[in-house]
Amino acid sequence: MSQIIDGKLVSRQVKERVAGEVSQLKEKGVTPGLAVIIVGEDPASQVYVRNKEKACEEVGFYSEKFALPADTTQEELNALIMELNERKDINGILCQLPLPKHLDDKEVINLIDPIKDVDAFHPVNVGAIMIGDYNFLPCTPAGVMELIHSTGVDVAGKKAVVIGRSNIVGKPMAMLLLHENATVEIAHSKTVDLSSVASSADILVAAVGRARFVTPDMVKDGAVVIDVGMNRDENGKLCGDVDYEAVKEKCSYITPVPGGVGPMTIAMLMQNTLTAAKIQNDMM
Ligand code: GUN
Repeated sequence: MSQIIDGKLVSRQVKERVAGEVSQLKEKGVTPGLAVIIVGEDPASQVYVRNKEKACEEVGFYSEKFALPADTTQEELNALIMELNERKDINGILCQLPLPKHLDDKEVINLIDPIKDVDAFHPVNVGAIMIGDYNFLPCTPAGVMELIHSTGVDVAGKKAVVIGRSNIVGKPMAMLLLHENATVEIAHSKTVDLSSVASSADILVAAVGRARFVTPDMVKDGAVVIDVGMNRDENGKLCGDVDYEAVKEKCSYITPVPGGVGPMTIAMLMQNTLTAAKIQNDMM
């Protein structure tokens, strides 16, 4: 039987820490500002963006939402980003992905000033993470590390397996685990005998995007299991990448979905926006 890692609780602690620092910044006349851009009507993206705005309010940030129509052109989107890059009251810029098919997310990411790139998606920030000399960590992997820390389990020397190799989660996740001296393996759809690779992990991070993909045979007894997935099952029920009910009997710690990694992503976005505001106001 495992202990549940409470992402809501840990995210609240991160946001309280950020809110405390925001109060101090405000006394010095600085209010961190976040611009959130959403293009089109994707319902999941609309929920994410609403939650981001809510979190900004909670921690005391200024936030501004730019809801653009689905037929926005690349030129219009680029122009908005260039304008936000110049604005002194905006410290962080986030363009919610995925964008409608006719827009190029790479072009958008490359245009955001790296010092305002609170997603840490810009190649400059990705490179900085590779060499361990960064301002921002990507929100989801950073949130996962906070959750692992909350268990008290020491990452150093442990075998960590990340299932999934996306630029947003899998690859940076592996790097953050490596920075903390785990022995890291990245598994993916072409991995041979995934079950034996995954079940070698003391720390298993699932970021595959397939409902209940990780079954008990893929999990080592006593492992820490982190579920980054956010899927709908065949009945339309929200579920993670891990078969939670079965796996929770086998591991030491596990994150639920919802209420695990999800709230942490937003908390770390608040952390990054605070850092961006401090850097831009020479307060680091
Ligand atoms: N879409 C899903 N997750 C994310 C995220 O972390 N940042 C952005 N910008 N878009 C996303």
